[in-house]
Amino acid sequence: MHAVETVDLTKTYNGVYAVQNVSLAVDEGDLLLIDGRSGSGKTTLLKLIGCLEKATSGTCTIFGKNIDAMTENELSDFRLNTMGFIFQDYNLLPTLTVYDNIELPLLLAGKEGRKKRVEDLLTAFDMSHLRDKRPDELSGGENQRVAILRALSNNPHIILADEPSSNLDIGNSHLIHETLSSINKEFGVTVIVVSHDPISRIHITKRYIMTEGVLRKE
Ligand SMILES: Nc1ncnc2c1ncn2[C@@H]1O[C@H](COP(=O)(O)OP(=O)(O)O)[C@@H](O)[C@H]1O
Ligand SMILES: [Mg+2]
Repeated sequence: MHAVETVDLTKTYNGVYAVQNVSLAVDEGDLLLIDGRSGSGKTTLLKLIGCLEKATSGTCTIFGKNIDAMTENELSDFRLNTMGFIFQDYNLLPTLTVYDNIELPLLLAGKEGRKKRVEDLLTAFDMSHLRDKRPDELSGGENQRVAILRALSNNPHIILADEPSSNLDIGNSHLIHETLSSINKEFGVTVIVVSHDPISRIHITKRYIMTEGVLRKE
């Protein structure tokens, strides 16, 4: 079974193609990069795969489930339990501590054993010393690593990252792409990274390129 399979996936805004006839099969455990210029449709494609936008036409199947057939409630459950998201601007909740931000998906999913899970993640990623800080007390690189742990906490099958390093310096950019790649290798999570940061190519060798809504393998 594929982790993600799209067939002729298309999204238009006001009649203009943002994503055009994308047919993509992602195997479970894949790590792939979607590269391309600004405005080429990368974020839109990631939102379609992440069930955050509805396609205009075509199909998107995630682990054999046709997401187009799901209701809004089913979709939000499915997202919560299947996917983790990482964004360019981290999207952490500013009033919550590092610990609480990472725990949030587990709370929403009503999971048991939350404390151990969050503490294990903080330890594994050498971030326990940051547990009581709030996002505005952290550097960009630290914030993005917290966002990665939040994306991981509920044990997702897929992680979708949209330009995760574009607000970071070179050192942190390496660190973030290295972390994403190690998550893929160590936990077997399928990881799809959208990025036009050249550093991402050093860490992710399976590369697709988006040009005016059309996706091709490098
Ligand atoms: N919500 C929206 N409404 C109208 N146009 C949009 C919307 N989102 C994206 N677009 C358009 O779709 C195209 C692709 O955008 P996007 O997927 O954000 O590209 P990228 O992530 O590669 O920069 C752009 O022309 C953009 O202006
Ligand atoms: Mg984008």
